[in-house]
Amino acid sequence: VQKVAAKVFEAKKIAPKNYWVKIAYPEEHFEPGNMSQILASVAGNVFGMKAVDSLRLQDIQWTKKMVKSFPGPQFGINGVRKIFKEKKRPLMLSVPKPKVGMTTAEHKNIGWQIWTGGLDLLKDDENLTNQWFNPFYKRVAETLAIRDKAEKVTGDVKSYLINVTAPTVQEMEKSAKFVAKHGGEYVMIDICTGGWMAVSSLREICQDLGLAMHAHRAFHGSFTRIPAHGFSMLNLAKTVRLLGVDNLHIGTAGVGKLVGGAVEVKNIQDQITAETAKANSAEHSLEQNWYGTKPVFPVSSGGLHPIIVEDVLDRMGTNIMLQIGGGIHGHPKGSYAGAKAMREAVEAYMDGVHVDDAAKTSKELRQALEYWGHTRPR
Ligand code: 3PG
Ligand code: 3PG
Ligand code: MG
Repeated sequence: VQKVAAKVFEAKKIAPKNYWVKIAYPEEHFEPGNMSQILASVAGNVFGMKAVDSLRLQDIQWTKKMVKSFPGPQFGINGVRKIFKEKKRPLMLSVPKPKVGMTTAEHKNIGWQIWTGGLDLLKDDENLTNQWFNPFYKRVAETLAIRDKAEKVTGDVKSYLINVTAPTVQEMEKSAKFVAKHGGEYVMIDICTGGWMAVSSLREICQDLGLAMHAHRAFHGSFTRIPAHGFSMLNLAKTVRLLGVDNLHIGTAGVGKLVGGAVEVKNIQDQITAETAKANSAEHSLEQNWYGTKPVFPVSSGGLHPIIVEDVLDRMGTNIMLQIGGGIHGHPKGSYAGAKAMREAVEAYMDGVHVDDAAKTSKELRQALEYWGHTRPR
């Protein structure tokens, strides 16, 4: 017991009763490849101790043996880019809004509009799974059929992020098989509400089916948001890189509607894409060698519209996925025009043209500029 005890090897007092602490755990504590077991240990009961007023698990530096015990992404950034035959520009996706309530016919019609308007992917919302107004099997079959048409019309690869989050793993597997059978390339999962075991299970299922995995982080704010307590977004991101998702929502670097400022989001982006991520003392994050684990495609999403896309790309670069929901479907001329405006905004950025100048020659972008201006959500 003494030999395998965890050891505090650094403790820095930053205020009365307030410390940054580093703890080393011998690997013998852990079952390799079992995230649920590992986190029950290092992020477990200690959070509920009466003696602890608040506690923040900011980062975990994973050892080589532990990193190698997880599969990591099957496709990663390059694998996903290969699917779309698109090497440079940000891939673009959109969630139909309103989030829920649309019928299957309405939902797939929005897919048609955004695909033909120039976007790469339609995405289910995190809370759309298999409800009566838009049942899963009908939605998948009909939407992928219309996706095929959109590919024919545009000559480009189009895909659909289909939310297979389900009550049980068995049901999730059934859903993923249905997606593969109907020619889908991607499934999506709510990683936090689904849980680590669900993510790991889906990763195995996706390996067999050759499907890529999109990760939505709904619920993370309940444990990542309070700076002095909880489990950081950085930890969450590293955890699911190990588990093997291909895309992950990490925020908009302060531009959009969700929490996560530029410094924090940039650091998370580095951590999920680098082969060896450097330590970042401002973010209290540690160096991490990923030992060949593929990078995760960072998804920037939440409260964006075409005019402020430029600000996101300035901060995060162009090797990201951009998701715009309300900022496309809220366009004064509708979803098709919204998608065109977004495509134009991204193309302009890639050509080094300022969005205000691009708006002079693009009707849809001009309408977006007149409607939203450069306003950012608070
Ligand atoms: C448990 O697993 O239930 C806890 O570790 C509680 O253990 P205790 O009874 O020793 O506090
Ligand atoms: C998502 O699931 O990615 C969000 O619903 C973002 O939607 P928004 O672009 O309308 O903020
Ligand atoms: Mg959503």
